Amino acid sequence: MNVLVIGNGGREHAVIQALKKSPKVEKIYAMKGNAGIGELAELVNVDYCDVKAVGDWVDAHTDVAFTVVTPDDPLALGLVDELERRGHRAFGPNKNAAIIEASKAFSKSLMKKYGIPTAEYEIFETYEDALEYVKNCKIPVVLKADGLALGKGVLICKTREEAIDGVKEMMLDKKFGSAGNKVVVEEFLEGPEVSVLSFTDGKTVVPMITSCDHKRALDGDKGLNTGGMGTFSPAPFYGEKTAKEVMEKIMLPTVNAMNAEGRTFKGVLYFGLMKTKDGMKVIEYNSRFGDPETQVVLPMLETDLMEIFEAVVDERLAELEIKWKDGACVCLVIASGGYPEAYEKGKEITIGDLDEDVVLCHAGTALKDGKLVTSGGRVLGVCARGEDIESARKKVYDNAEKIKFDGMYYRKDIGIKYRDVVKE
Ligand code: AMP
Ligand code: GLY
Repeated sequence: MNVLVIGNGGREHAVIQALKKSPKVEKIYAMKGNAGIGELAELVNVDYCDVKAVGDWVDAHTDVAFTVVTPDDPLALGLVDELERRGHRAFGPNKNAAIIEASKAFSKSLMKKYGIPTAEYEIFETYEDALEYVKNCKIPVVLKADGLALGKGVLICKTREEAIDGVKEMMLDKKFGSAGNKVVVEEFLEGPEVSVLSFTDGKTVVPMITSCDHKRALDGDKGLNTGGMGTFSPAPFYGEKTAKEVMEKIMLPTVNAMNAEGRTFKGVLYFGLMKTKDGMKVIEYNSRFGDPETQVVLPMLETDLMEIFEAVVDERLAELEIKWKDGACVCLVIASGGYPEAYEKGKEITIGDLDEDVVLCHAGTALKDGKLVTSGGRVLGVCARGEDIESARKKVYDNAEKIKFDGMYYRKDIGIKYRDVVKE
């Protein structure tokens, strides 16, 4: 069958690389894609946040039998609802379920109502009330803009001054735009973090192999929050015992809660979790594959991804056995100088001879006059599997040295984190 994939990042490149392996998939279209995706798929230049325009395009392309919607914005805007209304098959949650990511106020209230473990919090809708609260609350404290902010709308405030400034930035200066109209002020938790993506059809939930992201821009988890600077899989501290706790106390209760609210979630439900001294707690939910988690998770998948997508849409996930490879995978993100703040685009990228088993996931790349150039903050993900994280990590860094563009930077410590955390 022919498939349309919505999105243009490293995550979508990884999804398309996995779909390419499926005997069920013939041609792939990507809206809008990037230079790397263009080698595997036909690029479609339609604004995927314009749900009507996407619907019209799919109506007109009768050869497309299935659409995969991966980015948060079109999900929150109801693209899957629009495609279904027009009689098309689409993978991803409906708008009323995508709210689990699109509104942190919603997800926090859901967890409170259904007893799902998470940080204590308060929600504020005015600057004055939030200011009054942070003047007296326990420090450190975490401020979160309610809406979507490209993974950057979170401030960890180590001092009261930072908290007072943060509330002003979000609610008065609108640093994250309307995402900051409401602000969640949250208890600061400590412990190793893990991303557990899962497939769910609203009845069954199947966790994928675990991964760990590195959200800060600089080594040692310093610098600003980004969309993610690198990942490794699996998390060494997440064994069967923790998986069981998470399934019983977090995953099933969340899927059931969404059903009880009339917001059945079908698609990829992403659990951002922290292993605290009081057990596993939810830091965030996402309504989609993570980026750059997908770049390390999907290379470990043994089962045909297209089969899984169809099983989710047809609500027969329970019938599938989803298998994972042994070993580990690491992804290093190469970014443009300045990211996550202002950066320049259009820098020519040169790539030397990479080892055969190294996979590049293109994020912000484009072709200009036949040359590969940068077109975003996160430019490329260098991904490799290995027997363990250390060997995958070595391969990734050896190969990253063969990639060059003006102003590029990357973290040197991806894969080192949690080495000393007790294994499970
Ligand atoms: P989020 O976008 O909600 O995942 O937050 C971004 C990052 O901020 C997370 O990956 C954590 O590292 C950190 N963070 C978020 N909430 C908390 C919290 N309550 N306590 C400590 N760190 C947090
Ligand atoms: N890497 C975190 C996210 O996709 O939100």
